[in-house]
Amino acid sequence: MASIVQSKLIFSATAAIASGLAAYWLFRTREIPTTQKKKPLPGPKRKAVIGNVLDFPTQRWYEAFTEWQSRYGDVIYVELLGMPMLVVESLDVAEELLSRRANVWSARAHSVMMNELMKFDWSLPMSQPNAEFNEQRKILRRVIGPQEVTSFDYLLEEQAAGLVESLSGHSGDPHDQIIRAVGRVIIKLAYGERVCQEHGDDLAKMNAQNSDMVVYVLTQLWFVNLFPILKHLPTWTPGALFHRVAKKGRALSEQIRFWAFGLVQENMKKGTADSSFISRHLHEPEFATEQLRDAVAMLYSAGTDTTATAVLNLVCAMQRHPDIQEKLYKELMTLTGGAKERVVKATDCEASRYLDAVWKESFRLNPPVPLGLPHVSSEEDSLGEYTIPKGTMVHANIGFMLRDKRIWGADADAFRPERWLEEEAVKLPDAGTLPYGFGKRICPGRHLAQRTGKTFFAALVLNYKITVVDGEVLPEMIEYEDMAIRRPSNFRCAFKPRH
Ligand code: HEM
Repeated sequence: MASIVQSKLIFSATAAIASGLAAYWLFRTREIPTTQKKKPLPGPKRKAVIGNVLDFPTQRWYEAFTEWQSRYGDVIYVELLGMPMLVVESLDVAEELLSRRANVWSARAHSVMMNELMKFDWSLPMSQPNAEFNEQRKILRRVIGPQEVTSFDYLLEEQAAGLVESLSGHSGDPHDQIIRAVGRVIIKLAYGERVCQEHGDDLAKMNAQNSDMVVYVLTQLWFVNLFPILKHLPTWTPGALFHRVAKKGRALSEQIRFWAFGLVQENMKKGTADSSFISRHLHEPEFATEQLRDAVAMLYSAGTDTTATAVLNLVCAMQRHPDIQEKLYKELMTLTGGAKERVVKATDCEASRYLDAVWKESFRLNPPVPLGLPHVSSEEDSLGEYTIPKGTMVHANIGFMLRDKRIWGADADAFRPERWLEEEAVKLPDAGTLPYGFGKRICPGRHLAQRTGKTFFAALVLNYKITVVDGEVLPEMIEYEDMAIRRPSNFRCAFKPRH
């Protein structure tokens, strides 16, 4: 449950927007310059006032947007109660808008309930690109940038060994074990070994509760979002449920933000704090204390379920492709010298070309967040002959782009790691990076996610043969949760020891 909720924490902003933010945009439409007067952007025909509300999918956005591509093409414009929205199916267009024109396309949606009443705008994924945003991104580059992540290998290797142990004799869905191992990496890095030992479970629980709350808030229609003036109603006003919900949400958001940080501060005063992002960087003049605290507070919810889902998808692929699993196993045995302990080294994992090919191919076919996180334009823009209004929210259908036959060829839907080892591979888009989003908002945890994911996955393949559970039949289709973080919902496997 916790993990389901965590999935939604940050990334269900997507699902939320149609309800919670509609009114914000309603209000903003007054400022929006009249757009499609010259030539309308392609998309379903709009009705007066409600726009495309009736055309818009109520569930499974990723699948629905993918189907839209065959109906409407690569750039689809819809309006929901006046809120302009673009669904981009083309990698070129996504890169043009979100990366090359990042100065225009890096804002996030704003919700009265989330940002103002629950006071969630401290959190990086929801923040606007301002000075605090720049500062937090700078901090994250310093603490989990490409160079820095290599210094945590000892921790990744230790947790990989712990994960292997926890799955000994396991049959069924390994998601809980994987997410717990990833969560421990993040808590230890963020707040240290001591906080993880003493409060790791509470921290995970608190994040789960907070996620529950955020999901609830993001998936309801709040009149206060439609009519912001309502926020001034006294808290005792009958029917002002939003005030009570916001109060609870605010309390949880504050706990996430301050509690573990405070524990490290106390330990530092007592001289008992061990090494962590907070203890190492707190008094660095280069970093503002508040921004360090806030950047670190988001890591657990942003990084845990996403990374665990990437590993789960790989495990799932191995069960379905025993030949590829055997090839990878042999490669890993050679790499580790066939040592009896079957311990993987993160540096070996990074060096393995075949492991990299398997990782990329799984990431390509099953990006954990196939619609990324929506960006919003902060000024009017144009695309060819079309004008796009200021305040347009854009969903990049990364999942479609990664299976687009025009890019990947006729076998785009096949799991074929070898494509990454062929000469032509240099011409392919980087499937190891694309699932992390675009431009100024690209996932700052991507280097940590890749290093952790590969190390965990390699440890599993080296120690276990991943098979169908005895007596069960491999389901024909993999089903996926209907969440922004898309992970298999009916997955079961057995881990049979290799030695
Ligand atoms: C396989 C694992 C992961 C995937 C697929 C993933 C994917 C994403 C995506 C698609 C975004 C939105 C980018 C955009 O707006 O264009 C994002 C944002 C973010 N991710 Fe990740 N992520 C992963 C792991 C992590 C990890 C391990 C951390 C940190 C420990 C992390 C921290 C963040 C943060 C803080 C943001 C918000 C950035 C912003 O809004 O500026 N992620 N991630």
